[in-house]
Amino acid sequence: MKEIRIGILGFGTVGAGVVEGIQKNGTLMAGRTGIHLVVEKIADLDITTDRGIAVPDGVLTTDAMSVINDPSIDVIVELVGGTTIARTFTLEALKLGKPVITANKALLADHGEEIYKTAREHHTGIYYEAAVGGGIPVLRSQRDGLVGNRIESIYGILNGTCNYILTRMEREGLPFDSILADAQALGYAETPPDLDIDGIDTAHKAVVLASMAYGAPVPMEACPAKGIRGLAESEIENADALGYRIKLLAIIKDNAGEVELSVEPTLVPKTHMISSVSDSFNAVFVKGDIVDDTMYYGRGAGRLPTGSAVIGDIMEAAADKLHNVGTPVSVTMMLQRDTLDYYPEGNIEKRCYLRFPQANLKAAAEVLEKHGIGIASVEESFSVILTQRAKESAFVAAMAELGDAIRLRLEDFE
Ligand SMILES: NC(=O)c1ccc[n+]([C@@H]2O[C@H](COP(=O)([O-])OP(=O)(O)OC[C@H]3O[C@@H](n4cnc5c(N)ncnc54)[C@H](OP(=O)(O)O)[C@@H]3O)[C@@H](O)[C@H]2O)c1
Repeated sequence: MKEIRIGILGFGTVGAGVVEGIQKNGTLMAGRTGIHLVVEKIADLDITTDRGIAVPDGVLTTDAMSVINDPSIDVIVELVGGTTIARTFTLEALKLGKPVITANKALLADHGEEIYKTAREHHTGIYYEAAVGGGIPVLRSQRDGLVGNRIESIYGILNGTCNYILTRMEREGLPFDSILADAQALGYAETPPDLDIDGIDTAHKAVVLASMAYGAPVPMEACPAKGIRGLAESEIENADALGYRIKLLAIIKDNAGEVELSVEPTLVPKTHMISSVSDSFNAVFVKGDIVDDTMYYGRGAGRLPTGSAVIGDIMEAAADKLHNVGTPVSVTMMLQRDTLDYYPEGNIEKRCYLRFPQANLKAAAEVLEKHGIGIASVEESFSVILTQRAKESAFVAAMAELGDAIRLRLEDFE
């Protein structure tokens, strides 16, 4: 039996879940792996609040740097969140050659390249399964089980708050604002909720997924993001009547070597499995050129589900350390190439749902045709046109002439 000593930075929702999970299943894990995890130190700014989990005297400290610098600690777990002090803690630990586990998608989206390169330079690892899809082992599936595939496309429902709001709007016919207020009262949505409902959190996760799929750090600028703020009930109702559900979807595609990324509210056919992912659940649909379609489903957030993914990473980091792996696959996968080519947003081809609250549909159809946008169907009773595939730049130009029309993406997974 080998002992690995861990230091946890941040004893909030996820930090407490990690400690609870290790206390509950540490013996089980030791039996499976031969590695006994010892939570040596936990740092938090507040060490008096009850986190619902007892820890031995002397484990808690307010000094995170003392944990990083403690020579008896083998592995650092960064769970403070944010992109400032979390970056400092992560880089300091990596420079000491200590592996770092993080659940911090914002940190990886903004500073991933620096972090992966620092890990490589110091022959150690950064492990980040919990950063995408919470408890769903989707990154590990991609880098291990699907390693023999070129990834053709990824579709993800990656934000539980948005999926919860959309599900309740559809089921209960209530307006966006009242469900958002409920979600905040229940602790599902942050206050302010901007990162979630404006699609930024989903974009953070999309760039991490795309980095792994295509082998280079992807900047946030490569992922245009629209959220679900202010989505009207009529869009949900119309989509339903037309055989679709609206999901906040991250879409990542390989277009002959150019990587296409976007996040936007999207009509998905009710016949596609991803449309049945409801409430706060997440799902990721990955298509590989050899395996074809695969789908991963589960809880994308929460104390124990996220803790589960962090614990999986701690075990991997521990095993890598004991086997002197040096630079692990979680780093090499992100640094296969220096840069990627991105599909300009205007070139992204898509179908759209267009609703014209005021305009006459005949005039609207003429504008669309002028911009080369084909019409798939006209739903006069809802003042809706469903289009054929066209370039985003054509939609932008047409919408400039169409005033207050509402536009959502429509994805038929062809
Ligand atoms: N919650 C989830 O379900 C979930 C899911 C996936 C990923 N994540 C990611 O996991 C990370 C942690 O999230 P969380 O929900 O656990 O956050 P949280 O509940 O706010 O916990 C973070 C803890 O870190 C503490 N902290 C802040 N600065 C510190 C410092 N300088 N030294 C020591 N402790 C410090 C905070 O103290 P104060 O409160 O006093 O500032 C807080 O107790 C984030 O990156 C988040 O994006 C969370």
